[in-house]
Amino acid sequence: MRTHYCGLIDESLIGQTVTLCGWVNTLRLQSHVAFVDLRDHEGLAQVVIERDNAAAFAVAGDIGNEYCLRVTGTLRRRLSVNDKLKTGKVELLADSVEVLNAAKDLPFALHENPNEEMRLTYRYLDLRRPEMQAMMRKRIKLVQALRRYLDERGFQDVETPILTKATPEGARDYLVPSRVHPGQFYALPQSPQLFKQILMMAGFDRYYQIARCFRDEDLRADRQPEFTQLDLEFAFVEEKDVQDFVEELIRHVFREVQGVELDAAFPRMTWAEAMRRFGSDKPDLRIALELIDIADAVKHVEFKVFAEPANDAGGRVAALRVPGGSTLTRKEIDQLSEYVTRYGAKGLAWLRIDDLTKGREGINSPVAKFLDDAALDNVLRSTGAQSGDMLFFGAGSWKTVTDFMGALRLKVAKDRGLVEDGWKPLWVTDFPMFEYDDEAQRYVALHHPFTAPKVDDIGDLRVNAATAVSRGYDMVLNGNEIGGGSIRIHRPDMQSAVFELLGIGAEEAEMKFGFLLKALKFGAPPHGGLAFGIDRIAALMAGTESIRDVIAFPKTTSAQDLMTDAPSMVGDAQLKELHVRVAAEPIG
Ligand code: AMO
Ligand code: AMP
Repeated sequence: MRTHYCGLIDESLIGQTVTLCGWVNTLRLQSHVAFVDLRDHEGLAQVVIERDNAAAFAVAGDIGNEYCLRVTGTLRRRLSVNDKLKTGKVELLADSVEVLNAAKDLPFALHENPNEEMRLTYRYLDLRRPEMQAMMRKRIKLVQALRRYLDERGFQDVETPILTKATPEGARDYLVPSRVHPGQFYALPQSPQLFKQILMMAGFDRYYQIARCFRDEDLRADRQPEFTQLDLEFAFVEEKDVQDFVEELIRHVFREVQGVELDAAFPRMTWAEAMRRFGSDKPDLRIALELIDIADAVKHVEFKVFAEPANDAGGRVAALRVPGGSTLTRKEIDQLSEYVTRYGAKGLAWLRIDDLTKGREGINSPVAKFLDDAALDNVLRSTGAQSGDMLFFGAGSWKTVTDFMGALRLKVAKDRGLVEDGWKPLWVTDFPMFEYDDEAQRYVALHHPFTAPKVDDIGDLRVNAATAVSRGYDMVLNGNEIGGGSIRIHRPDMQSAVFELLGIGAEEAEMKFGFLLKALKFGAPPHGGLAFGIDRIAALMAGTESIRDVIAFPKTTSAQDLMTDAPSMVGDAQLKELHVRVAAEPIG
């Protein structure tokens, strides 16, 4: 149908007959000549249609943007070179112009920044935009590079079921009703976790899969209800084996796809250190700001907001120094106070240092009056405050303060341009094994229930469950959790004990995970692995905030596909077949 791609024509073809196919990107119709920028997935080519060519010129008068054309003509040198265009030195003088298909008036102009609802409804038009093509191609290149690297190193690509049993990763399951087993349901996998572990028990040694995962959870810019992991598992390994291997893999793909050389060895940080210094388990190390604990300095003050948590083992009082932050206006401070309430803050105390040499005179703060000289001096010293700085304070329960001060650190850094350029990867390790869920009043697994504890002794784990540390690890890049994994439990007694600590009784464990407990009894090897979020890595590489930009057909934040209009109602006959009845009123 065509001889060349629009975006690939060049001077070497001058004088030749060339046929191009593509879409009308722009059309300029003049009295004697028409210029069409024809676009295909390689780029743009200028087509010239002269009035002398009456048939072709007539077609030019009838077409509009996004018409699909086939043009044959002779390639010639352009009179005025367009340096901005890869093909800007040449143009195609049309002999014949064939309309392959007309296009209706567009719902939005492709060149402008359309709103997201429109983009998702008309995703085929949105994807035609060169910036979308570029972002999708980044993802495709990433997946190719990952596959090639793993294939060359003997990894086995094994597909695991999509219709399966619940695989808990901390989200809700998507369920599929069974027609042949009335009242029974498959769950879509939240990840291939248990299957990849069982593959290790089955002797596959090293596995990978580009795996689709399904999680019914609250969606954000970095979360989709279905997303893709690079899922990996290794037999006979310890933490360092897995980490060293995947670190090299990530370095490799950044080199190949992004042309970026990442640090030779990614820094490592325990979870406790990350939470203390950055208020996050996925710290963005491009930001130099750190939280500073000041409980010791304010233990004795009369200001209860500070003194109470400072004297409570479960409390925290932390400061964030913003260099040059004294330029923040009252309005901006109020906005930040409002912002942190979303993370559970009850208030945000602040202290502006106009002139450090003037003591209290040089300070402006609603809380300075509550701090005696010793406390004030101590706070200023431990934060390293300078004239022109702003200090923010968070006080309350350890978790709330850590969360909102961590969020404040990110917000202030982004607002004030304090995020450095570049790539800052790191490993976060030594996660707590369990987290207490106040609502459910029981422990939940911080990674997943198959993650091994650091202690080998079951008795020890039982006694020290609240403080137990796991063999889990996350890879973090520029404040994004791009991958997470662990060394797994490979002993059935330990797995049963962990289920028990998670409040999963023997009967429930047998019902949900009986197959795993059984498999562990047949010589399961020590094993471990990790899964990367491919959408997140692709988004970072493409330089976009949202993983929706690197997923061809993503869903909205309310989990809808606006193009196909899924989810949607189904007919009674189909429901009947599935033994499903929809309640007229919400249940419960
Ligand atoms: P985890 O739940 O940490 O681990 O997931 C691994 C990585 O997948 C990405 N990710 C997501 N990306 C987009 N949308 C989502 N809703 C979403 N949820 C997670 C993140 C995350 O780091 N089975 C374990 C892995 C293992 O232990 O080997 C697991 O799924 O980048
Ligand atoms: P209050 O005495 O409650 O009016 O608070 C005095 C100052 O302390 C105000 O600037 C509040 O924003 C701030 N503040 C109140 N609660 C907290 C908190 N939990 N953490 C940090 N600052 C707070």
